This record gives sequence, C-alpha cells and structure tokens, in this order.
Amino acid sequence: MYDPLALHDEIRDLARERDAVILAHNYQCGEVQDVADFVGDSLGLSRQAAETSAQTIVFAGVHFMAETAKILSPHKTVLLPEPRAGCPMADMMTAKELTLWRDDNLGVPVVTYVNSSADVKALSDVCVTSANAVAVVRSIGADRILFGPDRNLGSWVARALPEVEVMLWDGFCPTHQRVTPEQIAEARKRHPEAKVMAHPECRPDVVDLADAVLSTSQMLHYAVDSSADEFIVVTEEGLLHALAKAAPGKRFLNLSPVMLCPNMKLTTLETILDVLRDGTNEVVVSDDVRDRALAAVQGMVSIG
Ligand code: 13P
Ligand code: SF4
Repeated sequence: MYDPLALHDEIRDLARERDAVILAHNYQCGEVQDVADFVGDSLGLSRQAAETSAQTIVFAGVHFMAETAKILSPHKTVLLPEPRAGCPMADMMTAKELTLWRDDNLGVPVVTYVNSSADVKALSDVCVTSANAVAVVRSIGADRILFGPDRNLGSWVARALPEVEVMLWDGFCPTHQRVTPEQIAEARKRHPEAKVMAHPECRPDVVDLADAVLSTSQMLHYAVDSSADEFIVVTEEGLLHALAKAAPGKRFLNLSPVMLCPNMKLTTLETILDVLRDGTNEVVVSDDVRDRALAAVQGMVSIG
C-alpha cells in the first residue's frame, strides 16, 4: 500500500547513508518538495549543486537541470529519478540548429536559456535563467545578441533592455504558452484586489497584464514581502505548494488548471527512493561538452 510518510522517512534515512542531497524544483509535487533538502528555481538549484559537499545529487526536476548540475559538479554523482522527465522547450533548439544560426550571425554573442541541452550550452557564450536573464544580458554590454530557445523570455529581455537588439529563436514552453490575456482579465475581474505574478515564459501580451514578472523563487519572495493578501499565480501549479508554505496567511489562486508541466510531475517519492537505493539513472555529460559549456554556465550562476 502507498504510504507517503513511510517513504519520506525511508528516503531521508537513505540520503543520509549515501551522503546525498535532494534538490527539488518549485514545480515538483508537494510530497517531493517536502522530502527535499532544497527547493528552488533553476538559478538557486544550480547554485546549490555547485556548492554542495554531498557526494551524490538527486535532482527532482527535469533533464536539463540535472545536466547543468553535472556540468557544475563533475565529480559528483547526479541522479535523475525519472529519466523520461525532459523539457519540450529545451528540445526546440538543437546543437545543429544553433550552429547554423550562429554561423549565419558570426561574432554575435549567443545567450542561451538554462532550459537547453548541454550540447547547446557548449555552443553558447553565456547562459541565463528566468531570475537573471536581464542582468546577464546587461553585463555582456553587446548591442546585439542571439537568444534561444525561449522567444517569450527573450522578448522580456528585449523590452527591459531597448538598447540591445535581441534576435529570437522560436521556442516556447507549452505550459506557459497556453495562458491568454483573456484569462488574466477574467481572473482580475473576479479578484480585483489580487496581485498578478507572471512567469516570463508567458506570452508578451500576458506579461503586459501582470503586476510583477518573476522567476518562481522570486514569486515566493514577492508574495512574502508584499502588503497584498491575495495573488493570482501565472506559472506551473507546483509553485502553489511552496507559496502556501512560505506565506501561510495569504491566498494564492491558480490561474487555470492547465498550468501543469507533465514532465515535472513524473518524479515521485518512489522514483526518488529507487535511484537512491540502486544508484540508477546517473546523468552523464562528456568531458568535451562539459569543458565547452562550463564557462557559459558559470557565468550564469555568478550574476544576479
Ligand atoms: P524558474 O523556476 O527558474 O523560474 O524556471 C521555470 C521553469 O520553467 C523551469 O523549467
Ligand atoms: Fe520545460 Fe515548461 Fe516544463 Fe519548465 S514548465 S520544464 S519550461 S515544459
């Protein structure tokens, strides 16, 4: 019989025995967040992966996150509980496509969202997350950049930095792309006092209607610090669990039940227990790819 409390305790015991740290993204289901050592956004978890003293990192998230952890900590064992947990947006720009795009625009810096494969990162000048994309691009000081795979995050950067010409790849997150301006207007009508927090992976015409455009962990800080009591959350529904824990007295409204990332929800307590016990699903990045991707990823974790 499925017993989440027993599984939780078994996982915590095994993690201690195996010298493992469990990192979970804010989109993981509640019981996975609750068993983790650290829960955070892509930037926070990359920093945890770079700094941990544990010998094994169990990454409750999607494949590009575990790969990024391996790039930053090559001598650690990185385990991905569910090997099918990919990111469709990361698959929208391949290394071959990026090579052609870069060759067509020789000398223009390549700025890549962390939601990308290690092979793509290896072709990039610098990586960014949703928490620091604007700060990283500003730090480069270029008047023109190539930005991929997320056209929505790239548009957000372009609007924040009008002095930079941002050439966009045509990728997107299927989960965030579903949100429409009409849904925001409708939610505002029903909850006129609520603050709207939107993720920059949403369409520009959605982002335009938000009170704040934030990474997932930035949403947690915004909600805690805000004098408002009610929030409309325009990102994947897993964040609602983290929000309720961070600000228990406040009300958080999920914009729509379609705000679900099926890949993020593949990881379960059972799959975490399996990889911890058996050491399976180890994430591997070749030395060559790692060597070429490292500077871009280190640039990302050092800014913002
Ligand atoms: P952040 O948690 O870094 O804002 O990222 C959202 C996301 O889509 C990760 O896949
Ligand atoms: Fe990828 Fe979107 Fe899922 Fe994040 S929420 S992992 S960007 S598909």
